[in-house]
Amino acid sequence: MSRTRIHNLTVSLDGFATGEPQSAEAPFGHAGQRLHEWMFATRFWTLGGDPGGAADGGGSEGVDHAFAQRHSVGFGAEIMGANKFGPPGWQDDPDWRGWWGPNPPFHTPTFVLTHHPRPPMEMEGGTTFHFLEATPADALATARAAAGGQDVRIGGGPTVVRDFLAADLVDHMHLVQVPIVLGRGVRLWDGLEALEDAYDIEAVSAPSGVTHLTFTRRAVSST
Ligand SMILES: NC(=O)c1ccc[n+]([C@@H]2O[C@H](COP(=O)([O-])OP(=O)(O)OC[C@H]3O[C@@H](n4cnc5c(N)ncnc54)[C@H](OP(=O)(O)O)[C@@H]3O)[C@@H](O)[C@H]2O)c1
Repeated sequence: MSRTRIHNLTVSLDGFATGEPQSAEAPFGHAGQRLHEWMFATRFWTLGGDPGGAADGGGSEGVDHAFAQRHSVGFGAEIMGANKFGPPGWQDDPDWRGWWGPNPPFHTPTFVLTHHPRPPMEMEGGTTFHFLEATPADALATARAAAGGQDVRIGGGPTVVRDFLAADLVDHMHLVQVPIVLGRGVRLWDGLEALEDAYDIEAVSAPSGVTHLTFTRRAVSST
């Protein structure tokens, strides 16, 4: 059965998944690259996030790599927020095609939630960006229909992840907590309560200093 999953979502100790202000020069604002240094060191990253990638730039193959590479396995579609797709104001630029160049690393239909929809954009490598104004449940139904029986990834940012968690639409979430305190930005947890009632939560400490947390939805008892 097709599941809804989140992978490699990285937060600071105080729960921020991005700093501020977001801009074309600093997509993560004052956080810079500090949230993702754990990932840049992995083989997953040096292969361009593609397990079948031909490049060999080295990189670690330990715990961080093992978690990171799950990001690319078993997905038929992605949903992302408008602020992940581009910097503030991209909606006014008819030529903006995302951060990732002509061959984005998604390789599936990719649904961008936005209040400023535009026609679909077909990219190289199997990624087509579709622009949707829809509730999380309706967006998920659309993505699932396009996913060919595979899973749907909720790719972030934190606002969209929070909305999907609040709507109880997420089956599995892999979160990475990095030992930095950002103090400001967009926080993941605001308004969410008692996720531990719905999910089995496990934690693994990596030698790099980050903590991997998995949230797996509990099976609903039939009794
Ligand atoms: N730490 C990580 O692992 C991670 C992962 C991914 C992204 N990020 C970062 O997170 C930041 C973006 O996150 P964010 O929380 O600011 O924003 P976001 O979740 O990417 O996007 C939120 C925006 O999407 C649009 N939107 C959301 N739901 C919608 C709906 N149901 N219908 C129509 N439009 C909808 C709205 O934009 P409009 O009203 O403008 O259309 C909304 O302001 C970026 O800095 C990105 O680099 C971090």
